[in-house]
Order: sequence, then C-alpha cells, then structure tokens
Amino acid sequence: MQNEINKAVLNALDECRSIDGRQVGELEKSLAEYVGVKHCVSCANGTDAIFLMLSAWGIGSGDAVFVPDFTFFATAEAVARTGAVPVFCDVQKDTFNVDVQSLENAVQKVKNSGKLNAKAVVAVDMFGLPANYPELSVIAQKHDLLLFQDSAQGFGGEINGRLNGSFGNAAAVSFFPSKPLGCYGDGGAVFTNDTQKADIMRSLKCHGKGKDKYENVRVGINSRLDTVQAAILQVKFKAFKNSELAALRMAAEFYSKQLCEKWNIPVIPQDFKSSWAQYTIRFDNKSKRDMVQKSLAKMGIPTMIYYPKPLSKQQAFKKFEKFADCPNSEILCQTVLSLPIHPYITNDEIAKVADIINKF
Ligand SMILES: Cc1ncc(COP(=O)(O)O)c(C=O)c1O
Repeated sequence: MQNEINKAVLNALDECRSIDGRQVGELEKSLAEYVGVKHCVSCANGTDAIFLMLSAWGIGSGDAVFVPDFTFFATAEAVARTGAVPVFCDVQKDTFNVDVQSLENAVQKVKNSGKLNAKAVVAVDMFGLPANYPELSVIAQKHDLLLFQDSAQGFGGEINGRLNGSFGNAAAVSFFPSKPLGCYGDGGAVFTNDTQKADIMRSLKCHGKGKDKYENVRVGINSRLDTVQAAILQVKFKAFKNSELAALRMAAEFYSKQLCEKWNIPVIPQDFKSSWAQYTIRFDNKSKRDMVQKSLAKMGIPTMIYYPKPLSKQQAFKKFEKFADCPNSEILCQTVLSLPIHPYITNDEIAKVADIINKF
C-alpha cells in the first residue's frame, strides 16, 4: 500500500491543485456511496465537521444540545462554539455509549426548567460502536429533537447492515490518523441526505461563500480537506474496504476470546458491528487499571486511557448548568484501558498483551 500512497501523493502534487483538487470530489462521491447517503461534505477535521453540521441546522444561542458525558472534548466543544449549551448525559458502562434513559430524563429536566430550548442530540459512536440509533430516534421524534452522529470514531460501524454515517439528520466523521479510516494528518467529513443543508455546509466551510468565493452570504469558517489528504484517503479507503475493517474485527474477536473469562470486555449488542477505533476493557477499580497499565508499559506495550475526565468536570464547561448525574461516566474514567489495536496487529502480539493482563 505504501507505494500506492506515494504514487497518489506524487500525482496530486503534479496536478498542482493542492486545494479542491479532483481527488477531493472523487473521494466524497465514493464515501457517500459506501455509507449510503446522498452527500459527503469533506472538511479539515472531525471537530469542524460537528460544528458545520450543527451550524447548518441553525443551532445556536439558547439551544440545549444533549451529548454524552464520556467522550472526547470536541463533541461538546463544537456545541459550545455554536453558542448552544451542551447538556451532559450519562452513558452505559458496557457499550460506552449514551444511556437513553439518562437522555430522556435530561430532556425532561431541560424542558421543565424553561431556560433552554431542547433542540438536538449529538450521539457518539464510542470506540467505533454505533450508538443505539433505533432507540435514540424514538426519543428524538417524541421530543422533536434533531439527531446527529458524532461518528468521529465510527466510520465502518453498522446496525443491521445499515452503515454508520447514515443515521439521524447528519453524521460527522474524523480522518485523524488513529481513526478506523485515517489520513496522514487532519481531515473530516459530514454525511447527510439533506441536499439543502449539504449546500449550506459547502458554503459554511468556505467562508460562507455564495455563488463564488468572493461573494459571501453568511459568516463561515475556512475548513477544507487538502487534495493530498484526499489522495491518501482514496488509497486507504480501498484497503479499509478490502481488508482492514475485517482485520480489525478479527483482532477484536481474538482479544475478546483471550480476555473474556476474567475481564469486562466491550459489549457489542446483537445486530451491531463496531469498527474498533479502540479495544477498551474495564477494570473493577482504578488501582487495578493503573497497575495493569504500568505492567504493560514495562514490557514496552503502549495503552491509553480514553478518557480520564468526564466532560462535565472539565474546567471549560464548568459554567454550564448540569441537568443529569453521570455516575457511569465517572466510573469509566477511573477504570477503562484501551489496548493496542490496528489492522496489522498479529494474534501473537494480542496473546502477549492478554497474557500479561491475565496474570493479574
Ligand atoms: C468522539 C470524537 N469526536 C470528535 C473528535 C474530533 O475529531 P478531529 O480530531 O478530527 O477534530 C474526535 C477525535 O478524536 C473524537 O474521538
């Protein structure tokens, strides 16, 4: 694949269209086809993708946007950047995704308070597993909420054969290198079936352009996927479809086989498929988690704690009123550990990691 990527990069450089080159349009078309939606609007990163989709649907000051408490900062950061208020909801300990009962309670509380306009949910496909969109759609409909996917980690995930990126009003994806489909820097995209909103996002990502770049009809941002990154993604997308996604699933299955007897392995509900951005296990307490992490580090095995702090506890979000308790999010921050996973990891490497953990 490396030779193919090198060739694609050199071709892109030779064509001298470093911005908006043909590779960008071609990639958008093939990604939209794969996900099964009408539009893919590429942009500079996943954070901008969330911001663009919220902005296109007119979310802003006075609105409440419901987000999980256990996620990367960018989910709620993008909400706050629109002027809306992120309302943190608890998550499930076994799937790591938003808990629909906690969401329902938070929506009721916001409505009863009369302070904010309950407007939208941004569900996160944590570690690659789609959030429970069938149940979330019911709540969204009941309360007249927009439903968005923060699928930064979720490209390739599925529910009942329907691909991540096609649920709700729109979905934001990240192409950060560590994501299931990653480029060689930053990149992102929004997927939607809504043609009018896709046009607004194409305008917003280019300084709110109108008919052309120098006629500006709204205030936007500057957020483009570079042609070189699109060229790299075209090659990597082929590998992703042909072998990498399947290899990730096999690696996760092998981890689960090795670890299921003693540990809390990730739970994948029936009819759901994860794209395994991370393979994350849960310990009974923080000291055990930290001990295992130290032992793995001593053997040169890198692990990560995604995430060490609930969003509602972040200094930047202190000013926002809390409408829900999030005990599971707190527990997860103390007890999760993400193990090494990528499409080229071998069973021997997985067995070595599992052996060390199973010795505890
Ligand atoms: C859940 C989630 N949302 C949003 C983002 C932001 O994506 P990016 O880094 O491409 O801006 C990330 C990236 O780590 C993420 O994991």
